Amino acid sequence: MRKPIFAANWKMNNLSGDVVEFFKVLGDSTLHLNDREIIVAPSFPYLKMSVKNSEDKNIIIAAQDVYPEAEGAFTGMVGGEMLNDLGVGAVVVGHSERRHVFGESLELIRKKVKFTQENNWKLIFCVGETLQERETGHLFEVIKEQIYTAFDQNLWCENEMAVVAYEPVWAIGTGVVASPEQAQEMHLFIRKIMKERYDREETRILYGGSVKPDNIKGLMDCEDIDGALVGGASLKADSFKKLFLYDR
Ligand code: PGA
Repeated sequence: MRKPIFAANWKMNNLSGDVVEFFKVLGDSTLHLNDREIIVAPSFPYLKMSVKNSEDKNIIIAAQDVYPEAEGAFTGMVGGEMLNDLGVGAVVVGHSERRHVFGESLELIRKKVKFTQENNWKLIFCVGETLQERETGHLFEVIKEQIYTAFDQNLWCENEMAVVAYEPVWAIGTGVVASPEQAQEMHLFIRKIMKERYDREETRILYGGSVKPDNIKGLMDCEDIDGALVGGASLKADSFKKLFLYDR
């Protein structure tokens, strides 16, 4: 059984007032949701207050990034000891904005993946192709390379602790969602890699990219889609609730 995951990625949005309001409006809607997991990833300055405000709500608070060192002379970075001190339970690695806006290399992403696994945080590992890569027919190759370089064959951790998010770059923040058929095709491809290379067929694979309350059901109906990683539509609790309660 692959328990669905609904993860909010706030990116560089939501200030303290918004954080308080978000968890207040969520109320106890997540408390007894035992058939799905809810994850919220605020930006670094709001992690602590998010952990506090989500106490006893059955929610995992995630960091949007980590620098893969415990501590030290790394100006501007947030490392392992800090995330543990803040009470973080998961980390997003390989998001397309980290890859493309900040130029993260496959090697740095690989280090972050390893570091996340060593620290026992749940890993949300993002992959995705650009429009050009899709249009020139390289999409499967690109996704395969992103996965192969991030994980050694024997490095894949337990199903529970590692999640893949397929987020086509052309669908992120653009309002252009992948069709359920396009998403399902890639999820099935990723699942095959998980099975054949890592013996982890039950890895949960989330879709991300312009997920909204009006398209969530079509995506969730696909056999290999196990949840969503959501940016814009996760900033307000009312909208996020409609996503994780899409079938209620
Ligand atoms: P979006 O972002 O839902 O705003 O398209 C998704 C993501 O980048 O995780």
